[in-house]
Amino acid sequence: MATASAPGKVYLFGEHAVVYGEPAVPCAIERRATVTVEERADDRLRIDAEDLSLDGFTVEFSGSTDESPSVDVSESLLTAAMGYVDAAVDQARDAADRPNAGFDVTIDSDIPLGAGLGSSAAVVVAGIEAGTRELGVELSRAELAERAYQVEHEVQDGQASRADTYCSTMGGAVRVEGDRCETIEAPDLPFVVGYDGGAGDTGELVSGVRALKDEYDFAADTVTAIGDIVRQGERALEAGDVDELGRLMDFNHGLLSALGVSARSLDAMVWGAREAGAKGAKLTGAGGGGCIVALDESSATETALEYTPDCEQVFRARLDKEGVRLEP
Ligand code: MEV
Repeated sequence: MATASAPGKVYLFGEHAVVYGEPAVPCAIERRATVTVEERADDRLRIDAEDLSLDGFTVEFSGSTDESPSVDVSESLLTAAMGYVDAAVDQARDAADRPNAGFDVTIDSDIPLGAGLGSSAAVVVAGIEAGTRELGVELSRAELAERAYQVEHEVQDGQASRADTYCSTMGGAVRVEGDRCETIEAPDLPFVVGYDGGAGDTGELVSGVRALKDEYDFAADTVTAIGDIVRQGERALEAGDVDELGRLMDFNHGLLSALGVSARSLDAMVWGAREAGAKGAKLTGAGGGGCIVALDESSATETALEYTPDCEQVFRARLDKEGVRLEP
């Protein structure tokens, strides 16, 4: 039996635009998905997920996601969750050259599913690490990140960047631009996360942005402008200028909203945070519902979000410098 965990993340800047080669800066946060993998005697796969902010589901299948369990959650969310685990297990089999290995997989996560905090990337990264260790193979972090990216790329129909999976593997703040990924220095920023209890469909949201970008030059310019914000943001990060980071986050949110990926609940939380005096606030991840991230050293934003009707949960998130790790 092998157990590994990997962190979720918030995007300081650059989601969506990163899919088209602009840079992005996601930051790993101290919320983890933990995956335990135990090899079985047969070639089947059993997935047990008690806490993915779903009601908890258990499913047993052999290589296909057709056998959906009957739980009361969005079908697309569930199919996506199973697809990620299925593909992660395939990567572990491939890395160990054991195509027919069967597994019992248990997932425990305190990252809500589809909410913009990189739950799928964390499950995939931890799943590949646990699966390969269980089969006696130790991957370098670079190879693990690459294999995790292949999973997201496959499950998201070719519309994934390396940002989520690289960040979850390496931890800390990272910069991703196309194939170029690196960890960067960052102060421990005062992240406050607001969660509306909902989720967005990443595939659909990414397709929507692509359609706008293909139809309108000004939408393509908006994507480029997000890249400009990221470049400016990197300078602010180097200088430790939290005021400037906040202004740029506000701007980034406005452009994501123009691209159609915000939601009333996300806007309400963003405005709640801003009116409470946060340095800046924006949605994080694919959008459509889920989480916002704000910068505030004081407790004012947390208090304001607790009283924002659209906000179901609010928490402070610290930068997680560790990335993927084996658990005892
Ligand atoms: C989703 O967490 C982030 C997106 O930029 C998609 C991706 O980078 O793969 C929307």
